[in-house]
Amino acid sequence: MKKGTKLPEFLTNSGNLELAKLLISLAEGCKQIGRFVNNAAITGITGSTGTTNVQGEAVQKLDELSNNILMDYLRASETCAGYLSEETEGIFTLNPQGKYTVAVDPLDGSSNIDVVAPIGTIFSINERISGHGEVNEKDFLQTGRATKAAGYVVYGSSTILVLTLGQGVFGFTLGTDDLEFYLSHPDIKTPAHGKIYSINQGNGVKFDEPVKNFLTYCTTIDNETSRPYSLRYIGSMVGDLHRNLLKGGIFIYPANKGTTKGKLRLLYECIPMSFIIEQAGGQATDGCQHILDIKPEELHERSAIYIGSRDMVNKAMEFLKC
Ligand code: AHG
Ligand code: MN
Ligand code: MN
Repeated sequence: MKKGTKLPEFLTNSGNLELAKLLISLAEGCKQIGRFVNNAAITGITGSTGTTNVQGEAVQKLDELSNNILMDYLRASETCAGYLSEETEGIFTLNPQGKYTVAVDPLDGSSNIDVVAPIGTIFSINERISGHGEVNEKDFLQTGRATKAAGYVVYGSSTILVLTLGQGVFGFTLGTDDLEFYLSHPDIKTPAHGKIYSINQGNGVKFDEPVKNFLTYCTTIDNETSRPYSLRYIGSMVGDLHRNLLKGGIFIYPANKGTTKGKLRLLYECIPMSFIIEQAGGQATDGCQHILDIKPEELHERSAIYIGSRDMVNKAMEFLKC
């Protein structure tokens, strides 16, 4: 598919018209989210709602607005049967006759909204396994290997939709004149090796020894392997992973000492980002197993994640020796 192709044409040519219809609606919803994000400081929708979500985190006004926008657009698509969001405790049936379920992080990196750092929307799409009617939790608790499509939109210096349907990874940039997504990054492949590592070093005291040993490896001088690597971490998974996808690198959010899980959520952060990175030639594990092989048990369960350039994740696994 050649550069400049518009998203609807790309999706229609994929041959799956129901999935195309769902993704076109989702993309339209993300355009609206981007508009509200860009105008937030003018319209006064920065800051928090004063409520906390099922994660126990403060809900930003734009988190709630983004969630409502996506529910409306996916309901209108008539192909989305079920909806799960970081911002909602349970699951929702949007179209009983729909074929797909969507798990979303409506706005990732919310702590960055007010300071104009890159934030984004992350989504993962499965085929429902419950036939028709009301969706149930089993429709969502599928391993990442069953993922039909996954993607994210970064609202940054430009707005880019990165998408995979299971045959490669494609980036579409939003034209500011006509608000159309244009294919700008055909068939993205992530470098097998990079010089960037991304982690919240501030949590260092809580890391297990193997993680500390890997970080020492990253910061040891060795010209042959371009070390020390550079630490790049902006606190938005989408922003950190988009940079590392294009330039190469490893992003780590480990389990802290004593907790078996990390912070990031399996169904709508770790699995979609891992599906994308594997499609781009990289890999993603929880320190022991591939993220896409994990059998989810709960809707909002969390996972440790080591994700990015294939060789860098392999090296980290040597230190973790699960
Ligand atoms: P969200 O804003 O959807 O809650 O996600 C924030 C996540 C992720 O985007 C980022 O990588 C991570 O939180 C940052 O966590 P720390 O601030 O603990 O480093
Ligand atoms: Mn998030
Ligand atoms: Mn979020």
